[in-house]
Amino acid sequence: MKYSTSTGRLEVQRTDCVVTTRAGARALAERRRVGDYLDQALADFDDKPGKTTMVPLGKRGTIKRVLVVGSNAKLSIADFRKAMQAAASALRNAALRDAVLALDAFTVDGYDAEQKTRVALAIFSNVLYRFKAPRRDEETATTIARVAVRTDGRSPAAARRAIRTAQALDDGMSWARDMANLPPNVCNPSYLARQARAYARKAGLRCRVLEEAEMERLGMGAFMSVTRGSDTPGKLIIVEYRGGKRGDKPIAMIGKGITFDTGGISLKPGAAMDEMKFDMCGAASVLGCLRAAVEARLPVNLLAIVAAAENMPSGNASRPGDVVKTLSGQTVEILNTDAEGRLVLCDAITYAERYEPRVVIDVATLTGACVVALGAPASGLFANDDALAKQLQDAGDYIGDRAWRMPVWDDYQAALKSNFADMANIGGREAGAITAACFLSRFAKGLKWAHLDVAGSAYTSGASKGASGRPVPLLFQFLLDAA
Ligand code: BES
Ligand code: MN
Ligand code: ZN
Repeated sequence: MKYSTSTGRLEVQRTDCVVTTRAGARALAERRRVGDYLDQALADFDDKPGKTTMVPLGKRGTIKRVLVVGSNAKLSIADFRKAMQAAASALRNAALRDAVLALDAFTVDGYDAEQKTRVALAIFSNVLYRFKAPRRDEETATTIARVAVRTDGRSPAAARRAIRTAQALDDGMSWARDMANLPPNVCNPSYLARQARAYARKAGLRCRVLEEAEMERLGMGAFMSVTRGSDTPGKLIIVEYRGGKRGDKPIAMIGKGITFDTGGISLKPGAAMDEMKFDMCGAASVLGCLRAAVEARLPVNLLAIVAAAENMPSGNASRPGDVVKTLSGQTVEILNTDAEGRLVLCDAITYAERYEPRVVIDVATLTGACVVALGAPASGLFANDDALAKQLQDAGDYIGDRAWRMPVWDDYQAALKSNFADMANIGGREAGAITAACFLSRFAKGLKWAHLDVAGSAYTSGASKGASGRPVPLLFQFLLDAA
């Protein structure tokens, strides 16, 4: 999606669609003398948040349609989100190429033009994204590619800033979704490394890719235990963005990049196993957030680390009962090879320590238990630092990509006890998302650390199967607030 600001009078716009309120449409009708078309539609319209109606204006004018969006005189932020969601859905379902969004027609309680723009365009980006699947009809489809936003014109600099920020988020999120939606025979660890390298080169960032031999040499026994079963080599990808001050410690974001999770020798059941191509959504979101930060030129130092591997069963795969030594020196008894995410992440967290990060945030489709606990509306949020947890939660609330905090109390650590190593890689049946976080916390002892379990939020199943791009909005907003 390409966003821009729109100035000049609404009635002289040249566009496939103007998006406005009922009052806005009335005013437009008077000035354009297109009343015949609009009057009846506006009279019949049920003017409530969540309702919309698309009214064609005939062939003569420069505006082809008006999308009337249900509203109140003064909208609560929740109703505004609902209205924008409905507007974006209506645009998605219509065959048009561009739209002018008259945000100046909407009054939102407590939100200025800049904030309205941020919230509305985050929703537009989410709804209007399309994946270019390798299908014939994809080439000829009419899809909306440009949205211009009209604001009240009182602070044009703020309006442009909001657009630039929204564009950065859209670009980062679309990239993340594209990578995640690709099939696992294309998007493997090498593909992720190539994508990261190519972007780093384009943006002038430093990128390092650790190969298996190097990781073996360093002593990343946990990471290696996961990747060893696959013929496709694992990679540890590190991209550095230095937008902040020279001496400022970086924020490190670590993504789980299992490009396909079969479960390994602890093989998963067949049903919906295809969805395990999304087990690299954490990795995609970390790269997507990096890109958004770069394009918004945020004054922060950011480190994106991707632990990329494939979890496969083979004659060389890890067995339940294997004991491995992590980069931290702690040993792990692998009781279930399907609990592989924490194994690649623990070594990546230890590796991140050498950059002396200000905070470490890992993002992972880590547990089915988190899906059971929170479903799609909230990502699971875990942290060993209250201030960091609050910053992440607030960022998500603001931009509409929510997370909900869960405990990492010591009471849960006992579940990881092993008779043969420092810890087992799984707890019992209870509190699975928490015991997974507890496992990771043992590798984040001296760090300010947070963990986002996005197993329920990073993608949708069934008819609308696809990556959501979450939690890129949350992470990016967190950086904006931190900058
Ligand atoms: N990638 C899965 C978690 C997952 C499950 C993500 C469902 C999205 C939807 C992870 O690697 C996994 O298999 N976790 C196991 C852990 C268990 C063996 C302790 C799980 O959740 O079942
Ligand atoms: Mn697994
Ligand atoms: Zn997994």
